[in-house]
Amino acid sequence: MCGITGYTGSGKALPFLLQGMKCLEYRGYDSAGITLVGEALTTWKAKGRITELERMIDPALCPEHTGIGHTRWATHGVPSQLNAHPHNNMDDTISIIHNGIIENYMELKRELLGKGYVFASETDSEVVVHLIDDCWKNCGQDMLKALQKAVHRLQGSFALCVVTTYDPTRIYCLKKESPLVLGHSAEGSYCASDPTALLAGTREILAMEDGQIAVLSKNRIDLYDFDGQEVPAVFVHYPYDAESAQKGGYDSFMQKEIHEQPHAIRETLRGRFDADNRLIMEEIDSLGLNWSHLHRVYFIACGTAYHASIYGKTLLQRAAHISCIAETASEFRYEDPIVDEHTLCIFISQSGETADTLAAVRLAKERHAATVALTNVLGSSISRMCDATVYTCAGPEIAVASTKAYTTQLVMLVCLDLKIAEKLKAVFPEEEKLIRSLKSLPETVEKTLELEETMKEYAQLLIHQHDAYFIGRQLDYPTALEGALKLKEISYVHADAYYAGELKHGPIALIEPETVVVAIATQKDVAAKTFSNMQETLARGANVIFITDQDTDAQDFARVIRIPACMEELAPVPAAVLLQELAYFTAEGKGCDIDKPRNLAKSVTVE
Ligand code: M6R
Repeated sequence: MCGITGYTGSGKALPFLLQGMKCLEYRGYDSAGITLVGEALTTWKAKGRITELERMIDPALCPEHTGIGHTRWATHGVPSQLNAHPHNNMDDTISIIHNGIIENYMELKRELLGKGYVFASETDSEVVVHLIDDCWKNCGQDMLKALQKAVHRLQGSFALCVVTTYDPTRIYCLKKESPLVLGHSAEGSYCASDPTALLAGTREILAMEDGQIAVLSKNRIDLYDFDGQEVPAVFVHYPYDAESAQKGGYDSFMQKEIHEQPHAIRETLRGRFDADNRLIMEEIDSLGLNWSHLHRVYFIACGTAYHASIYGKTLLQRAAHISCIAETASEFRYEDPIVDEHTLCIFISQSGETADTLAAVRLAKERHAATVALTNVLGSSISRMCDATVYTCAGPEIAVASTKAYTTQLVMLVCLDLKIAEKLKAVFPEEEKLIRSLKSLPETVEKTLELEETMKEYAQLLIHQHDAYFIGRQLDYPTALEGALKLKEISYVHADAYYAGELKHGPIALIEPETVVVAIATQKDVAAKTFSNMQETLARGANVIFITDQDTDAQDFARVIRIPACMEELAPVPAAVLLQELAYFTAEGKGCDIDKPRNLAKSVTVE
């Protein structure tokens, strides 16, 4: 995720900006840049690490007291020096940095191009600086008024910092749906995308609310709403050290990332539906595939992303009645799969760099299949190799165990499957209702997170167990697989997942008193069947955790947890969140190193 830092005060800006940007490195980034403001703007940008940027700058020649710095994690436009922030207006009098996504940037860009503005980058962010320039010229050259005018034109999410030579002792900050914090001390005023970057200067911190503009100067910070009404600026003492600040006050990155899921899902869905709830997926529209000749769709991935593949193939096959196959990339490449020009291969990879998945892409391309990547990392190898790429917008995932990347993959697979079904002239059952339910999924996940304490209590059952079994049918099966994988990865409790109907064909021999069985039953046609399978384990003394959204007679179970209402096609999202929590609290109870489990790497770039 991009990082923001800014300073104006009596000290030199450059050292503060550099150390702030280094504090934000943990968020992941691909390029970095700084603007210092004096009589003129001085901007440096570099692809790669902050050290590359530092090589360009001679600190002895940088006396400025005001500046902004940015670390970019690409979302629109590949990682490059040109796409790095800050972005300046054409006469280098205004400079901005931006976190978030400007949804209507194409419309604004067309308008600004028509007025003669020239764009230097491929980013959505660059429209903001030209828009501010245009508003500034039409607002009697009053920057606050220009920003108020500009902000009402912007759709999407943004944390924005603006500096200008017209007012070189100020930084203007604007916030909507992307975090931005301010700080103040005797030496000056500070801003950053997360408090970590402020701690070297101050602990007196104010978290901006959506719809606010702040004006930072050496001795004060003034706060306004987007209509120019002044609002009180209340600072609080920030109690955390730098390490826990990076984790947002959570005990681990995994816990933070579990809690980021409502936001990550919201960002992933942003801009995907028009006002009439029609799906927007130009990446697939322009694939150039003869859809009427399509024979089969493969979903290919590894690990957690493979579980997402099973979900994606089950959903599509059900709706579009086309042959759909989910396959692990490490097997696909060696099994001589039936892949030809009538095949669509969808490759799912959070990192976009997994060696087995990339090898599978090569094979599919050799055999003339159409290839689509679903990834979280812009410009990753997979996106460069495939014919089309759709992105999840989960932001960088730091914990090795995948959480928000998985749930956003499920969300994007619903969109992708809807699009493929449309191309195949098929319709999802209750499609309009599904889209409405999809759009309210961030709130569903918020409500799911309120069940955290219950999952913590249930995790106590697992802390002293060697084994656990996860069962589910249909769309609950990938959830069972993912729940078992999460538990194994971070708590080292051995866990297996089965189709619930398979239990009696062997694994039930392992059930003895106190064995933990997690049964997931959110799919109405088969919930009663899973319920019966779960009863069979109860009869053998198992400790059952039953996750459902169905009305069941709960009196027979010690532990039943009901997920918040949503369409059953989407229930695997909140159900996965609960299982992440179960694994998390088990690992915490066992004292495991949650973010860096033994033997595992975040990105598996070897076969
Ligand atoms: O980056 P990718 O999605 O391609 O990674 C695939 C797997 O290595 C990954 O999902 C792994 O299973 C995670 N550790 C799961 O938490």
